[in-house]
Amino acid sequence: MTQDELKQAVAQAALEEVRKDLNKDTIIGVGTGSTANYFIDELAKVKMDFDGAVASSEASAERLKAHGIPVYDLNSAGILDVYVDGADEINARLQMIKGGGAALTREKIVASASRKFICIADESKLVDILGDFPLPVEVLPMARSHLGRELVKLGADPQWREGVTTDNGNWILDCYNFQLDDPLKLESRINDIAGVVCNGIFAQRAADVLLLGCKDGVKRMTAEV
Ligand code: 5RP
Repeated sequence: MTQDELKQAVAQAALEEVRKDLNKDTIIGVGTGSTANYFIDELAKVKMDFDGAVASSEASAERLKAHGIPVYDLNSAGILDVYVDGADEINARLQMIKGGGAALTREKIVASASRKFICIADESKLVDILGDFPLPVEVLPMARSHLGRELVKLGADPQWREGVTTDNGNWILDCYNFQLDDPLKLESRINDIAGVVCNGIFAQRAADVLLLGCKDGVKRMTAEV
């Protein structure tokens, strides 16, 4: 199976997982990226069975709308039952690095506002220790150089993702070589620096369920403690 076929398989498995709980009032949280796009395409097949979605990016909102799925503002949607999204890396505790698509801030907000977070990923994303994937940090543009220096002090090698502006009008620093053996602590430590909007460690709000696309089928995993 190709990586795209694995992504499509987990998107189908996610639809099966959420489908039984759908009703006419359900608003689903929807993530961003190529795996989330497959999930949006699956959702379209049952769009008459639920109310609509809250999207974690403008790109996902456009794709949902193109399928005729209503998109709600999080403020009007309240607490969501479920959020479905991909990841750049995930460990056995279901802590993740996200933000490869620069949507980390809205993803973290919608995930935090959801009772259940289902991560959908192909098997290449499961790692023992997070950190090979460069950690995205969303920063206020005026603070970019200052934050680059502060992140170097924390041991990272930050690189500006030039040409990319987030949906929130900010910039991304991709941090290479971060020591990520304590994701919870580092998530808070980075957030403490003035000018940081959000970082791509999802440890405080880890996933509840991982649907992992493997060559021999989709594996359903919950967090190891
Ligand atoms: C976007 C994300 C995505 O979930 C992450 O980059 C995974 O993307 P893909 O499904 O395309 O591999 O965090 O900001």
